[in-house]
Amino acid sequence: MVGRVYLVGAGPGDPELLTLKAHRLIQSCDAIVYDRLVSEDVLKLAPFDAECFDVGKRPHDHPVPQDDINELLVSLALRGLSVVRLKGGDPLMFGRGGEEALTLQAGGIPFEIVPGITAAQGVAAAAMVPLTHRGVASSVRYLTGHCRADAELDFDWDGLADSDTTLVVYMGLANIIEICRELIDHGRSSDTPVLVVSRATRPEERRFSATLGTIPCAVKATGFESPVLFIIGEVAALSKYQEIPTDALQINHFAAAAE
Ligand SMILES: C[S@@+](CC[C@H](N)C(=O)[O-])C[C@H]1O[C@@H](n2cnc3c(N)ncnc32)[C@H](O)[C@@H]1O
Repeated sequence: MVGRVYLVGAGPGDPELLTLKAHRLIQSCDAIVYDRLVSEDVLKLAPFDAECFDVGKRPHDHPVPQDDINELLVSLALRGLSVVRLKGGDPLMFGRGGEEALTLQAGGIPFEIVPGITAAQGVAAAAMVPLTHRGVASSVRYLTGHCRADAELDFDWDGLADSDTTLVVYMGLANIIEICRELIDHGRSSDTPVLVVSRATRPEERRFSATLGTIPCAVKATGFESPVLFIIGEVAALSKYQEIPTDALQINHFAAAAE
């Protein structure tokens, strides 16, 4: 008998943000294959005798290549196991869940996708920032701040500079300064608020507020710890819990550099 693979979203960290379905599957699986962003509190829910495989990736460090992860899922299912492939946030949002689903489909392995709360939604709720807000932001765009093989960021900068659009940047730590500079160069105001949230929904969550112009100083001054999400747009100013910016954050880096 072939088993079944569940591509499950673990949410941003807080186990209470799991769906009921994810919770049930994690508690009853035979094997669990998990990513770096899955929190300890979520992993603790797995049965003590479940086979556990840590296949977590870090920037520039993929100890278990994606092809091997795909093969592992197929081989566990061929042993007849109920396999939970657990990913941070939602499996289909910057999570390579689509690639794994295609592999399973090609191998004739039964599988199901169980959505999770993506980091953007977790951060928005934790920081009380509505990603859209009547009269402030009529659309929202999710971006990766890091392209495959460190390729150059090649975005529709003019579209992203639209002041009615909220931008949510995943994996942006390495390139956030360049992203902010491009947005300003394409017409977005350097005073546009930016909310930075690291380790959202976890006990060690931290939040900082800056602007497109002050982001370089903020990055230096605060030493954000990964994972970090950036929310760019006027809605970020609606956050009820903004931390008071330090003096360093008052400096508009790009304006100062141009002088
Ligand atoms: C490879 S992507 C995976 C995204 C995930 N599938 C999701 O839906 O949230 C990893 C990025 O998600 C963001 N992220 C995930 N969890 C986060 C958290 N708890 N707090 C802040 N950012 C988070 C960070 O930008 C991180 O670099």
